Amino acid sequence: MNQKVLVFLLPNFFFGMFLLGFFCKRQKNLTGAFPDPTEDWLSIQNDRKSTLASVCLKNNLLKLRSKLDSRVVNQLFVELKHKFIYCEVPKVGCSNWKRIIFILQSDFSAEASEIEHDHIHQTPLIKKVESYPPATQKGFLNNYTKVMFTRHPFERLVSAYRDKLLHSEPYYSVTVANEIKAMFRKNKTSSEKVSFQEFVSFILAKPPNNLDIHWKPMFLLCDPCNIHYDVLGKYETLGLDSEHVLRVIGAPESLHYPSLKRYGSEKRTNADITLEYLRQLNSEQIEKIKKLYQMDFFLFNYTMNYEDYFSLNG
Ligand SMILES: *[C@@H]1O[C@H](CO)[C@@H](O)[C@H](O)[C@H]1NC(C)=O
Ligand SMILES: *[C@@H]1O[C@H](CO)[C@@H](O)[C@H](O)[C@H]1NC(C)=O
Ligand SMILES: *[C@@H]1O[C@H](CO)[C@@H](O)[C@H](O)[C@H]1NC(C)=O
Ligand SMILES: *[C@@H]1O[C@H](CO)[C@@H](O)[C@H](O)[C@H]1NC(C)=O
Repeated sequence: MNQKVLVFLLPNFFFGMFLLGFFCKRQKNLTGAFPDPTEDWLSIQNDRKSTLASVCLKNNLLKLRSKLDSRVVNQLFVELKHKFIYCEVPKVGCSNWKRIIFILQSDFSAEASEIEHDHIHQTPLIKKVESYPPATQKGFLNNYTKVMFTRHPFERLVSAYRDKLLHSEPYYSVTVANEIKAMFRKNKTSSEKVSFQEFVSFILAKPPNNLDIHWKPMFLLCDPCNIHYDVLGKYETLGLDSEHVLRVIGAPESLHYPSLKRYGSEKRTNADITLEYLRQLNSEQIEKIKKLYQMDFFLFNYTMNYEDYFSLNG
């Protein structure tokens, strides 16, 4: 064979092999025989972040000042070893996240189930970002993995009512309950528990920023337009999102998100229970709570059409 032909053919042969290799690989990817769950998860995260960013922009929620809001800093817990910041949104699995921070920090000297519910909310062992000097706070926010979790606003509201007003935690079942009764109950001598309708009237009577953290709008608690959360978790995908957070921050493989809840024998607030309570409200109240939580609906992509939402997700 002519040497010139060989010189011409050889590079073509290698190029052909290269293309073949490329397409075989591509084919494998296209068949989706091995779908990559991490990629799916990342793409959902990107969707959540881009929805959030466009709603922030559209509603002028971006702040020009770089000063941190002290009320928001008060919601942020920090774990130094894993460079992890968790924004506390009550009624969205926060007790368990605090347990995890405690375990990470204490080098596994404790098990999640050993840490009592009331204790985890008081323990000085888990630190708030607020307890550090302002320069350190900025460093944390710039360099650490920041995470917040959200829940459908109506489900969170019902969960807060059931947890705080139907149980016997004195601050809520006596102090707050008496305030609500004084404002909205006609029969002052009636000793019945605060109804969901009275509870909602009470919430609607206050400025949003003064609301108790258990029912304050989530975006006011964590300010996601100005704090760039690396993970936007949802209660609706709590297990999956939590596992990813633990792997992202490099937590030991053996650590998983616990599934403990406070009143062990009671049903978690779900779609059916939420609907049952919402039906006790009149349409004017429904419209007003939609308005109160409207940014939570928009920013975190929850539908206000709750009858549809809950019949699909319930
Ligand atoms: C195939 O998928 C892997 C991982 O999912 C990716 O890294 C690679 O670039 C893909 N290959 C092609 C040819 O698309
Ligand atoms: C918003 O939520 C809907 C319903 O859950 C979902 O189908 C859609 O993909 C979400 N959109 C974005 C941008 O995340
Ligand atoms: C954290 O961010 C600050 C900027 O706020 C930077 O100066 C510092 O070097 C960073 N620290 C680490 C450990 O990356
Ligand atoms: C007010 O409540 C008390 C105690 O529940 C009850 O005995 C009384 O009949 C009620 N009064 C009216 C006017 O409903």
